[in-house]
Amino acid sequence: MPDNLICGVDIGSSKVATVVGIKSPEEGDLKIIGFNSTVSKGVRRGLIVDIGEVTNSVEESVEKAERMAGHKLTSAYVSVGGPHISSLNSHGIVAVANPQTDISEEDVERVIEAARAISLSTTREIIDVSSRDFIVDGQSGIKNPVGMSGVRLEVDTHIITASQTNLKNIDRVFDDLGLQNNGFVFAGKASASAVLTNTEKELGVVLVDIGGGKIDIAVYVDGALSYSSSIPIGARHITNDIAVGLRVSLDSAEKIKLHLSKMTSGAARKKTSVQLDFHELNLPEDVNEVSLKTLVDGIIAPRLEEIFKLIFDEIEKSGFGQAIPSGLVITGGGALTVGMLETGKRIIGLPIRVGIPEKVGGLVDEIIDPQYATTVGLLLYGSENIMSEETGFKNFNKIFRDFSLGGSVGKVKSFFKQFIP
Ligand SMILES: Nc1ncnc2c1ncn2[C@@H]1O[C@H](COP(=O)(O)OP(=O)(O)OP(=O)(O)O)[C@@H](O)[C@H]1O
Ligand SMILES: [Mg+2]
Repeated sequence: MPDNLICGVDIGSSKVATVVGIKSPEEGDLKIIGFNSTVSKGVRRGLIVDIGEVTNSVEESVEKAERMAGHKLTSAYVSVGGPHISSLNSHGIVAVANPQTDISEEDVERVIEAARAISLSTTREIIDVSSRDFIVDGQSGIKNPVGMSGVRLEVDTHIITASQTNLKNIDRVFDDLGLQNNGFVFAGKASASAVLTNTEKELGVVLVDIGGGKIDIAVYVDGALSYSSSIPIGARHITNDIAVGLRVSLDSAEKIKLHLSKMTSGAARKKTSVQLDFHELNLPEDVNEVSLKTLVDGIIAPRLEEIFKLIFDEIEKSGFGQAIPSGLVITGGGALTVGMLETGKRIIGLPIRVGIPEKVGGLVDEIIDPQYATTVGLLLYGSENIMSEETGFKNFNKIFRDFSLGGSVGKVKSFFKQFIP
């Protein structure tokens, strides 16, 4: 696999999506050359519950993306999310090694390592450490202290941890398929990089990725990721509610749900008394006449209310409720559910919009859909990583993980590669 190719595998509860991008050194832009989305099996609420099934789904998706890209894929970034994710903010302090000269990258590495020194249960692993703010000799608000002079360097970091069992299971899937894992990326963070604007992040915003089985949340304050978590409920619950409410199968309920979001974009939504006609869906069941109002207000809205109340609770828990004037950006497949924005506005009382991943070009229009926010985010994350390797800036997350695993030759090799200019 050529060095300028980047691959991301998003293992979701509903689909496994693989994306291959190419970074052109001349133009510096990122183009998608391979993409596939396959039904996911063996994943529940972001957790792998059947390794064999997940391996099959990932294999199918990666193979199809390989065929489209015309390249064999040997390594990929992979998403992790779900309620096994938790986060905390930690502070680190070090004395600058050589105060006569400027603060060096090594000083930054040491201070981040100091902040990483948190007590962690043996069942959990750190997947991401990002700096929120550097403080040099008491002066805060510094984004990059390298090159500044000072004697005391402090950092505020945001640390995301995940269940080690789940990470090991993902590694098993990758090992079985001969793929190297370039790094775990929290799905909420990946989606954020695909759909949020810098202004939103600077002002303060909450990214909400409503997937099939879980909702990943990432809160940005002053431009930095400051809270990450996940709620064990997803858009599949809405399908369940429709199935129960209309007495149809889950397959039919899913078709009805998707049909509703298509037909209710725009003017049709206003005519709520209209009787719905599902003939064109060719459902095996006879669905009794039902009005849009009954379906939306009676069946879907109560579940959306529950979802937004849980999101509200998470925002309260984060402690950043007063620091998010940009409100909520909703993405993930569930973002297109009928009535989503109206209900969200009512419950949360903040601005709210749907986030669509648009920051990449290429052949595939299909990917410009909220359900692929995480997938596109993996590509953007990978591309930033390549750039930082080229500019000599080290990827601390990867370095620390390789160290803590101590593992295979391939991993050790790639560890040393990071220091080669
Ligand atoms: N146009 C649409 N309208 C309403 N719901 C939709 C639409 N498109 C997709 N969905 C729903 O979104 C869900 C899948 O979302 P997504 O692909 O983001 O999940 P996932 O990433 O596989 O799962 P997770 O992130 O929870 O592990 C499904 O429940 C599907 O019904
Ligand atoms: Mg997802």
